[in-house]
Amino acid sequence: MFETLKLIPPDAILGVIAEYNKDPRDTKIDLGVGVYRTADGETPVLGVVKEAERRLVDTQTSKAYLGSAGAPDFNAAMQDLTFAGTVDNDRVATIQAPGGSGSLRVAAGLILRARDDAAVWVSEPTWANHIPLLGGAGLTLKPYPYYDTSSHVLHVDAMLETLSQAPAGDLVLLHACCHNPCGLDPTEAEWRQIADVIIERDLVPFIDMAYQGFANDLDTDAFIIRHLADKVPEMIVSSSCSKNFGLYRDRVGTLSMLARDSGARDITLSQANNVVRTMYSVPPDHGAAVVSIVLGDDALRAQWLDELAEMRNRLRDMRALLHGALQEKVPDHDFSHLVRATGMFCFLGISKEQVEQLKKDAGVYMVGSSRINVAGITADNVEHLASSIVAVL
Ligand code: LMR
Repeated sequence: MFETLKLIPPDAILGVIAEYNKDPRDTKIDLGVGVYRTADGETPVLGVVKEAERRLVDTQTSKAYLGSAGAPDFNAAMQDLTFAGTVDNDRVATIQAPGGSGSLRVAAGLILRARDDAAVWVSEPTWANHIPLLGGAGLTLKPYPYYDTSSHVLHVDAMLETLSQAPAGDLVLLHACCHNPCGLDPTEAEWRQIADVIIERDLVPFIDMAYQGFANDLDTDAFIIRHLADKVPEMIVSSSCSKNFGLYRDRVGTLSMLARDSGARDITLSQANNVVRTMYSVPPDHGAAVVSIVLGDDALRAQWLDELAEMRNRLRDMRALLHGALQEKVPDHDFSHLVRATGMFCFLGISKEQVEQLKKDAGVYMVGSSRINVAGITADNVEHLASSIVAVL
């Protein structure tokens, strides 16, 4: 049987981890997969997560199954983090999911059951795994213009133009904040224009929020969700706690479904639970239980917000550090998009060949599109990084 299978090349993003690990040079730099790193290059467990885990170990009395929807207290806390009271709670349901990817996959199953002829419009470019994850599930994907890779600005007018031609009932996948891969988000005024087209054309917003709190505060980063929440009949939101709680491998996320009324909400929820039951039955518990403890305790929540701000500020500082180092070396080359972007990512703006050369010559690893994770920059490696980049320009 297996002889019929063909080898699949390494994943565009996860493959970089393996390549980096194999490199013996101690000057190597990992700007690949989107995990946060401290100034020491570590990805430690957040202090607040450690504390919540201690409490969980002390108080948890059972490992019995949760239902397919997961833990009600976690779902309620996450629904509040997502919508902050801007939505009619009778119209929305939130279920626990195995990370943002798991949530997206359940959403795909749900969309296919509801409207298998609807297309999902995705930004060009988008997260490298959106296409295989959603397309592989069977959804039809269509691109809308988003980012100009040569001038490093957003194509909002072209995006609006494309979406204004989309058939009613199609879905529009939006990145709530910290667009992955380009790091540039619409301004609030641009979000309002995008929302107007969605409402006029009767499109369904499908919002991926994987970085809430990484660009700005939690409220600003959820602007588009909350702006749309009382204006559209239906919406899907996939949230992830991988980055903002640093719970990457514990797989923690939610899927929120906004429906026309409470009856439609209950039917949608029953279908989503059935998608889960037929895919992985019930979600993993540990990370979600940790998040629930943090969000349910004022002191822990305040500690989390501090740790989140520390991560956000370091990412901003590292962008500025690399930008400054590059500007000093090549003042005529415009790298300003590095500091206009927010969150973990931006494009360096070099070719695939230059990306390969950087790996080979300098041990600097990034995704082939030249997307860099700025968390991999430190005060100690920035000089080597900047001179290696300049050497391939
Ligand atoms: C990334 O884009 O690097 C992260 O979201 C991790 C992943 O799964 O691709």
